[in-house]
Amino acid sequence: MDGTGQVRLPEGRFDGYEKSSRPPEDAVLTRVGPGTPCGEYWRRFWFPVAMTREVMDVPLRIRILGEDLILFRDGSGRHGLLQLHCSHRNTSLEFGLIEERGISCCYHGWHYDIDGTILATPGDADSGVKDRVRHGAYPVIEYKGLIFAYLGPPAEMPRFPVFDSFELPDVEMVPYSIAMPCNWLQVAENTMDPMHAAFLHSRERDMHFGSTWGELPLIEWYDGDWKMNLTMTRRLGDMIWVTIQETVYPANSTVGYLWEEGTEEKYFTRVGFNKWTVPHDDTNCMVIAWRHFGDIDARGMGRPELVGKQSVDFPGQTGAEPYHERQRNPNDFEAQVGQGPISVHATENLVAHDQGVALLRRHIREGIEAVRRGEGVPRPPQDGSLLSCYAQNTVLPITVRKGLHDDRLLRDVARAVFDTVASGDGRTEPERTEYIRNSLKQLPRDLRFLPADTAAE
Ligand code: FES
Ligand SMILES: [Fe+2]
Repeated sequence: MDGTGQVRLPEGRFDGYEKSSRPPEDAVLTRVGPGTPCGEYWRRFWFPVAMTREVMDVPLRIRILGEDLILFRDGSGRHGLLQLHCSHRNTSLEFGLIEERGISCCYHGWHYDIDGTILATPGDADSGVKDRVRHGAYPVIEYKGLIFAYLGPPAEMPRFPVFDSFELPDVEMVPYSIAMPCNWLQVAENTMDPMHAAFLHSRERDMHFGSTWGELPLIEWYDGDWKMNLTMTRRLGDMIWVTIQETVYPANSTVGYLWEEGTEEKYFTRVGFNKWTVPHDDTNCMVIAWRHFGDIDARGMGRPELVGKQSVDFPGQTGAEPYHERQRNPNDFEAQVGQGPISVHATENLVAHDQGVALLRRHIREGIEAVRRGEGVPRPPQDGSLLSCYAQNTVLPITVRKGLHDDRLLRDVARAVFDTVASGDGRTEPERTEYIRNSLKQLPRDLRFLPADTAAE
């Protein structure tokens, strides 16, 4: 007010009204219910649906790809994944009685085997209905504390993919799962968006992980048919720190040690966690994962006792902290769920460092199209060999070179580290790891652009 009763209007251009109606979300990439293109695509992969420890003496009701299911372990120790509603008169099998073999419905006792065979209809022994009807069931595999399921056409079931990162020696893998109240894709995209580590996790508020994470990384992407890798490379004094992350489509990501600082020489240290982002439905998903403990934890930061249902030992993943605390110190949960129930791609403005997000969407779209055309989706080699995971950290003693732009040096070092890790493919462990570590140790000498005094050392 200026004393005359006139209120000064704010100056500037305000575009809120122009943008007040939001365009629709990308339904093809985000809708996952039965019969949707993306749901069909998802149903071509094995992925985890629960932790073994969640399967108790009563059935576990779960929702996966918009379908309601029960997961149980019968009296003979076999796991079953059945559609929720009884094939007789639709009562929920979450109230069923677990039998030595399979499960029976509470209402009239129809008895189901784990593959959906109806073993008995005790109130109707003679009609033959049990031989005419089959109940919807899916195959499951219990592996290292997680229950994996395949929800697709039996004829297209792939091999269960086992990566060397699932089988590392002297590593304790502790399962965890965290519900996320938003679409699966924006959660899966987080590991394809490495630039967020420099801002969300260090520059903006608290240091969430390593003290050097605020140093902007140079990012490179390595696009493949069935997986994608990225390198994040930083210059820290006389060291170059190269992180590799890996995402196997559609949503299985592996990252290195969470509290790595990149200041001490090291070669091919392995995994912090392997995680999947699994859709419950269009607006709910879960992160389901293994945290890795052991020698990897050089700084002694891990807390395995905190890892489990709705809980993990690094901050900001569950949304459990009070709202105002989360406003003052937001983390991954806030950044991902904060995009809305289903993030609208049409209102984004992607920039160069979002290339990984764009690549992930492109590959998923291509996979969806392949399924639509009746073709197979790109998959890892199906020969049964252990698959090589590239996720790692390497820190090399390579000084700044006079006359050479340091970004160029970092880019060449990132590529050389990636190529070295990839060159270990086809070797079995432990030879692969030894070969990669020895080769990486040679890199500072091998790189042609190093100063003569370093190369001669
Ligand atoms: S409704 Fe399940 S047995 Fe009748
Ligand atoms: Fe993060």
